[in-house]
Amino acid sequence: MERILRNSKVLVTGGAGFIGSNLIESLLDAGNQVVCLDNFSTGKRENLAGFVNNPRFTLIEGDIRNYEDCERAVSGADVVYHEAALGSVPRSIKDPVTSTDVNIGGFVKMLFASNEAGVKRFIYAASSSTYGDHPDLPKVEEVIGSPLSPYAITKYVDELFASNFNKTYGIDTVGLRYFNVFGRRQAPDGAYAAVIPKFVKMLMKHEVPVINGDGSVSRDFTYIDNVVQANHLAAVATNPNALNQVYNVAHGERTTLNQLYSTIRELAGGYDREILTIEPVYGPTRGGDIAHSLASIKKASDLLGYSPVLNVAQGLEESVKWFWNNL
Ligand SMILES: NC(=O)c1ccc[n+]([C@@H]2O[C@H](COP(=O)([O-])OP(=O)(O)OC[C@H]3O[C@@H](n4cnc5c(N)ncnc54)[C@H](O)[C@@H]3O)[C@@H](O)[C@H]2O)c1
Repeated sequence: MERILRNSKVLVTGGAGFIGSNLIESLLDAGNQVVCLDNFSTGKRENLAGFVNNPRFTLIEGDIRNYEDCERAVSGADVVYHEAALGSVPRSIKDPVTSTDVNIGGFVKMLFASNEAGVKRFIYAASSSTYGDHPDLPKVEEVIGSPLSPYAITKYVDELFASNFNKTYGIDTVGLRYFNVFGRRQAPDGAYAAVIPKFVKMLMKHEVPVINGDGSVSRDFTYIDNVVQANHLAAVATNPNALNQVYNVAHGERTTLNQLYSTIRELAGGYDREILTIEPVYGPTRGGDIAHSLASIKKASDLLGYSPVLNVAQGLEESVKWFWNNL
């Protein structure tokens, strides 16, 4: 079976962002025509630089909160990969109104426009934050707790809408609960930057990173190529039981923040030995976060044929190399 969609017309929302731009790159490589809808709120033009001149690529600068933009972008698309959202738990705690507007309001507009346009499959970025306060590890898709942040609520509500739209209107959907994704083109700057690019950039500048809490918090850090693979598999899945489901997308490996810091420091130290002497400082614990996260990837493996390409150590090596050469 093909493991990637070819020669189709697709829409990637949020394509100027970290995950969306990596997805677009591989969809273009596979011969697809790709439309990107993005409002550049957190995405960057430089993320599109590698393919903006590709004749099979079209950029629509617009907002998923604007239904007309959704309609225009989705026209003629076979598959939609919906990545556009406002990420970050702290951002959603600071401004729940905008996060809700984009992540739920924009989601429903994009989903409804996709259904109206006859899109065959709507694949969307869900989140591991949906597991909320449930203590069990590893996380299995059917067992979730109460959400711990507005962001987590928005991502769970999206799953409910996707399931309801399938029952009500018939559009097929696949939700991918990403677990702490990292890799090339992830934004290192700003108040809501993810920990890996932030640490790498700070170490490159010989600045001292702050670890929230005592560093024992653990996550299932997932390299970008694994996430791209899961999206491709979701697009080509032919087993009807695989559709209208949500899946964990992770590596299935738990790393504490302290372990993460040591590995990044060692890798960056390979480029600049002075970095090896930089000790982190410890700050207050962050609100809205779970203490530990680890995914079972059995469902994605059984129903989609998902099998992660790189583990955390290999992904970190690739990422530090990329940041070293590109920041
Ligand atoms: N990165 C992770 O670890 C992670 C984990 C779980 C879920 N997710 C989800 O994956 C998706 C992609 O995340 P990312 O890390 O690439 O984030 P990102 O911020 O790099 O990308 C999001 C993109 O969406 C665009 N966007 C935001 N609001 C928009 C709007 N109203 N209209 C049009 N475009 C808009 C942004 O400009 C940006 O290009 C998001 O839905 C996010 O919630 C990410």
